[in-house]
Amino acid sequence: MPGAADSHGLTFRQDYFGEPAAWAGLVALLHDTFGIDVGIQDRFGGPDPTSMPFGYFDEAGTCVANFSAFSMPLMIDGRLVKAAGFQSGAVRPEWRGRGLYRDLMHRAFGWCDVQGFDFGLLLTDKPAVYEPYGFRILSQHRFSGPPPAGAKPVGSLRALSLEKSADLALVMRLLRERTPVSSIFAVAAQTEMFLLNGHFDPDIQLAYLDQFDSIVAWKSDETSFQLLDIAGRTIPPLSAVLAALDQNPHRVDVCFPPDRLQWQGVPEPFVSYTSLMIRGDAADRLTGPVMLSPMAEF
Ligand SMILES: CC(C)(COP(=O)(O)OP(=O)(O)OC[C@H]1O[C@@H](n2cnc3c(N)ncnc32)[C@H](O)[C@@H]1OP(=O)(O)O)[C@@H](O)C(=O)NCCC(=O)NCCS
Repeated sequence: MPGAADSHGLTFRQDYFGEPAAWAGLVALLHDTFGIDVGIQDRFGGPDPTSMPFGYFDEAGTCVANFSAFSMPLMIDGRLVKAAGFQSGAVRPEWRGRGLYRDLMHRAFGWCDVQGFDFGLLLTDKPAVYEPYGFRILSQHRFSGPPPAGAKPVGSLRALSLEKSADLALVMRLLRERTPVSSIFAVAAQTEMFLLNGHFDPDIQLAYLDQFDSIVAWKSDETSFQLLDIAGRTIPPLSAVLAALDQNPHRVDVCFPPDRLQWQGVPEPFVSYTSLMIRGDAADRLTGPVMLSPMAEF
């Protein structure tokens, strides 16, 4: 298919992660654009196998532009939705303003339509770029309130480190087996973003609750306990999580709809420099306050 960049001597490539040099080209583009090293995923088994990258490369093999789609099945209002996430959107500065990104967005959104994805989501600080393609901002809320009445700790707890191979294997197993943490809005299956977020943010703590065969991702400071995600076959009540972690906060902030936690918080607007944008019919079912778990951010 002729691309917008043909006249610039660039080569369009799709689905190129099988080639190490091309993958390294994307790692360099994202490092130079966002200052992050997604090459770390090689330690976690490589990039998401569902990822479908669309990119332009120059004659030296430098990746000058990219936009990727990946599968991120979601639970939305009690129903499993075949959703695609879009990420790794970047164009090198000297190539901007020539329509390369427009071309890659057309290709990626068109590919998802053909594949039968019926929901799309992305996070961006430039919402205007995506509005022409049917995306709209979904305002996010986290759920805050006093902790539930105390529960006695049951079972044992183990702090996990993604640096330890046995812990990493446990986390990956539970991410594969997980039940959605919320039936209103939650990731149903996706491992790579949880691992990347857990790696990049040193404040995130991971603990294994053996009684529930579940992993809890959390943070805490003087003012609150922040529950980021729970991954496992069962979702423990919030009281059991706090008891197991021996936490007695004044306030709890839950960063996903808490409908499965046997606890209710007050939705409070979540302020962030990026907006969550969505498109697709299932978006109409998202009428109440929701938040995408920070462990699923991409
Ligand atoms: C944003 C970015 C990818 C755009 O790449 P580009 O190749 O210059 O974009 P294009 O020339 O193909 O423009 C595509 C469309 O987006 C619009 N657009 C581009 N940059 C924009 C911006 N900062 N704000 C709003 N709209 C923008 C263009 O006007 C164009 O609209 P049109 O199709 O109606 O004419 C590029 O500037 C970049 O890499 N920025 C840094 C990383 C980044 O922000 N990535 C996106 C994160 S979600």
